[in-house]
Amino acid sequence: MNIVLMGLPGAGKGTQASRILEELKIPHISTGDMFRAAVKEETPLGLEAKSYMDRGQLVPDRVTIGIVRERLGKDDCANGFLLDGFPRTVPQAEALDELTKELHRAIDFVLYIEVSEDELLKRLTGRRICRDCGASYHVVFAPSKKEGVCDRCGGELYQRADDSAETVHERLKVNLEQTRHLLQYYESTGKLHRVNGEQPIERVTEQILSLIRGSV
Ligand code: AP5
Ligand code: ZN
Repeated sequence: MNIVLMGLPGAGKGTQASRILEELKIPHISTGDMFRAAVKEETPLGLEAKSYMDRGQLVPDRVTIGIVRERLGKDDCANGFLLDGFPRTVPQAEALDELTKELHRAIDFVLYIEVSEDELLKRLTGRRICRDCGASYHVVFAPSKKEGVCDRCGGELYQRADDSAETVHERLKVNLEQTRHLLQYYESTGKLHRVNGEQPIERVTEQILSLIRGSV
């Protein structure tokens, strides 16, 4: 199954992706994670992406489409994939349609996790990430057992650079505009499903899984 997971920054894409992939054995392709890995390794891609990410702006389509093209061509995507945070613009969605056609596949399912702006602000500014395994926590909504320490691996928790209050506002502004167009694009395909993301994390997962099961 080929799935697109959409949602504004902080809607819970990463949280839900890791939970639903415990059940579906397909690779998790997060453009945000790929860019952060490139930034950490200080590759030319990372250096370019960083200048946009730090300002809460989108990385240019040309760059983003290029890394997704390369990733979807890998063998482990042959039986399906879950795209998290891509596409984020209409040109990216069009490129994805082309790309899947070249690979003789199609997107089966587009999932949009809906959350209000007020809630997103709280989620992003309270988020903490594990430096070692990437697990995501929230100081209020999903705290680790011991403050600042990852439950899974004991790693140190940190705040993402783009989760500062100032950058969060810019990220929301940029993404709101693009998401509006993208929803219109997918609305006409009949593949779009909306899920209320303002429910407990487990409940959102249950709804996503039952939607996916219903469509297979
Ligand atoms: P990316 O990493 O994709 O960031 P994002 O879209 O801003 O999304 P987030 O990762 O911030 O949020 P999420 O929806 O995964 O939420 P999470 O599960 O962590 O991209 C980063 C940057 O890379 C972009 O700004 C851009 O520059 C660039 N980029 C990436 N893709 C691109 C593209 N396609 N084109 C161009 N540029 C691109 O949850 C958030 C918090 O809420 C956590 O603390 C979590 O514990 C908590 N939480 C989750 N669910 C719930 C719930 N149901 N109730 C209460 N709390 C919850
Ligand atoms: Zn960890």
